[in-house]
Amino acid sequence: MKSDVADFSLAPQGKKRILWADNDMPVLASIRQRFAKSKPLKGKNVSACLHITAETANLARTLKAGGANVVLCASNPLSTQDDVAASLVKDFQIPVFAVCGENRSTYYKHIYAAIDHKPVITFDDGADLVNELHTSRKKDSFRIIASMEETTTGVIRLRALANAGKLKFPVIAVNDAASKHLFDNRYGTGQSTVDGIIRATDLLMAGSKVVAAGYGWCGRGFAMRARGMGAIVIVTEIDPVKAIEAVMDGFEVMPMAQAAKVGNLFVTLTGNKNVIRAEHFRAMRDGAIVANSGHFNVEIDIPALKKMSKKLNRGVRNHVDEYILKNNKRIFLLAEGRLVNLAAAEGHPASVMDMSFATQALEAEYVVKNEGKLAVAVHNVPIEIEQKVCTLKLRSMSIGIDRLTAEQVEYLASSGEGT
Ligand SMILES: NC(=O)c1ccc[n+]([C@@H]2O[C@H](COP(=O)([O-])OP(=O)(O)OC[C@H]3O[C@@H](n4cnc5c(N)ncnc54)[C@H](O)[C@@H]3O)[C@@H](O)[C@H]2O)c1
Repeated sequence: MKSDVADFSLAPQGKKRILWADNDMPVLASIRQRFAKSKPLKGKNVSACLHITAETANLARTLKAGGANVVLCASNPLSTQDDVAASLVKDFQIPVFAVCGENRSTYYKHIYAAIDHKPVITFDDGADLVNELHTSRKKDSFRIIASMEETTTGVIRLRALANAGKLKFPVIAVNDAASKHLFDNRYGTGQSTVDGIIRATDLLMAGSKVVAAGYGWCGRGFAMRARGMGAIVIVTEIDPVKAIEAVMDGFEVMPMAQAAKVGNLFVTLTGNKNVIRAEHFRAMRDGAIVANSGHFNVEIDIPALKKMSKKLNRGVRNHVDEYILKNNKRIFLLAEGRLVNLAAAEGHPASVMDMSFATQALEAEYVVKNEGKLAVAVHNVPIEIEQKVCTLKLRSMSIGIDRLTAEQVEYLASSGEGT
């Protein structure tokens, strides 16, 4: 079996991690059991460009149980858990092309290896694989039944492609499913971003002035969790609706130029570029910590930071680089500006990825059932799949909810008076 992983001797540790995560992924496990019997993906070649984590391993196991021939490659050069990658190949016979810390050329070599697998279904976290299927590897796009997209930034890229009339096959905005972003982006990114920052820095959150750039799903989750640990949280936004929401949620809201002067810790969660730039670094206090949890490493203007620094001390702590500005102020950049929750911690907790990846697995079954019927467009996940995932999750937590009575069904469907 062809693959490229860092070190096979790490496999036993990776297997333990995969099985530990599986304990917290009961919804996906129940789908895996069903898939093993009904084989809805039988004989389908699947290439998944995702963060290679223990949770992704359990998604890959589920797709394989459903009869798919699965190959994985990394969706970020720094997020691969090398032990998990080794175990996937050795213990689960799933080829993986991913090495933590790989350079740009290896990163793309791995994506091409996943395309060489001749997939009919693809999964992306950020649309890098689909992007190659629309550029350098156009000739391989004709086979694709559909492609699943896991994150906000990927969906934005795909909608741009569709709007330009260039999309070549149906794609599914899995990120936009309620069973995904409401939980994964908010509670998953919220908790794991705090986790990554603390592991990297040992920062005391209580009393820290924390600036959260962006008050979307991820930003809300992070701001909420940082406040829960006693931080004084300031939010920056460009959308007046989100800004007023942050105000009414009890956060201070101000432009970055102002926040830069007061924050100790800055975290970008916007999906946008150059949110923190030279003028902001210049205004920051000595020792300010800067991190990103948005998809790409473009939210912090690192080239500008390099340019205005007289010295760069790499690795003053694991995942921490010290930039010394010409005025002697120090700025600490975490995880080279890449997703701090995946680079410096373990990404989202398994319990929340259970819902995201259950949505992904059911969606894969759906696109195979509907092969040839989906228009070339960006599709939403059908509501039935969102509800199924939430129902199964509640069941796994032994939580029941009420059902509408016949009278209530009639009442809600009527336009009568409120008597
Ligand atoms: N770290 C992770 O594991 C993880 C998980 C899910 C999503 N993501 C990524 O995080 C990013 C945000 O995702 P989301 O689901 O919260 O998106 P979202 O669209 O819900 O929120 C983004 C917010 O950022 C705001 N924004 C844009 N430009 C800004 C700027 N210059 N200054 C301040 N605010 C600005 C937008 O108005 C919006 O409210 C995306 O790149 C997404 O792919 C990361």
